[in-house]
Amino acid sequence: MPEPISESLQKKLSARLGFYEDIGIRLFYRDRGAAAAPESERQPEPPAPAYFAAPEIQKEKPLPKPAAKPALPQIAPVVAPVIPKIATLPVVAGPSLFESVEKIVGDSLLKTREDLGECTRCKLHSTRHKIVFGDGNPKAELVFVGEGPGADEDAQGLPFVGRAGKLLTQMIEAMGLQRKDVYICNVVKCRPPENRQPEEDEVKTCSPFLLRQIDVIAPKVIVCLGATAAKTLLQTNRGISQFRGEWLEFRGRKLLATYHPAYLLRNPPAKSEVWKDLQKVMAVLGLEVKKGKSVS
Ligand code: URA
Repeated sequence: MPEPISESLQKKLSARLGFYEDIGIRLFYRDRGAAAAPESERQPEPPAPAYFAAPEIQKEKPLPKPAAKPALPQIAPVVAPVIPKIATLPVVAGPSLFESVEKIVGDSLLKTREDLGECTRCKLHSTRHKIVFGDGNPKAELVFVGEGPGADEDAQGLPFVGRAGKLLTQMIEAMGLQRKDVYICNVVKCRPPENRQPEEDEVKTCSPFLLRQIDVIAPKVIVCLGATAAKTLLQTNRGISQFRGEWLEFRGRKLLATYHPAYLLRNPPAKSEVWKDLQKVMAVLGLEVKKGKSVS
């Protein structure tokens, strides 16, 4: 007989399962149903969805025997990176947003942050609480660029820490990485009021700092999360669906645009597209998901 689950653990599990449900992971519910059914009526397990792996659920008591680890996607040590074909997009007419931004010799993230200072260069400063500069590994091979901070980020001064951020963390972990392995930042460093899109003058004022971050980190791959990041870096007016998942070039680096995690929260079926995009990134970085592994 399995040990009964305590009430507090039941509550914790229920909250965690609710969270997974919110982000489109419903595997647990199906498993619970399957476990409740008599053996003769159980349905065969459908193939595991190639979505984002769920983190291990905290257990209250250690089990008597070491439990089998949940089957997260297994990351092979390092495989030969794939060299992708790079397409080019026509840029918008007129002077490039970045024309005047030259590489600064001896630049660093610290210097960039110091130069940003307690910024009042655009109107976003008057409503922000904290500047959200960026977070992660200053030598990351992979940089994620979002649009701009939301309420949680504005309160904490860290990028992608709200609901969309939790999903981004799961995406990163499904790639076999951790948040501390990558660098995460935004086009604008201050929260636009009511989470509106940043305006052109705000993007123009703030994006040179983003550029310096990218130049200093010198990642192998930049992933733009959503249209604002993609349109800013690529200087294009095209809709993201026209180039999502394609390898593009940005200042000599590989860039791939995919959907924003906030969009995935509203539209969970698009997760499979994003997962395909992230697998392309994994191939370039020499990370591999072993085929046939479950993500339940
Ligand atoms: N959305 C973004 O684009 N950036 C964040 O940091 C959080 C939510």
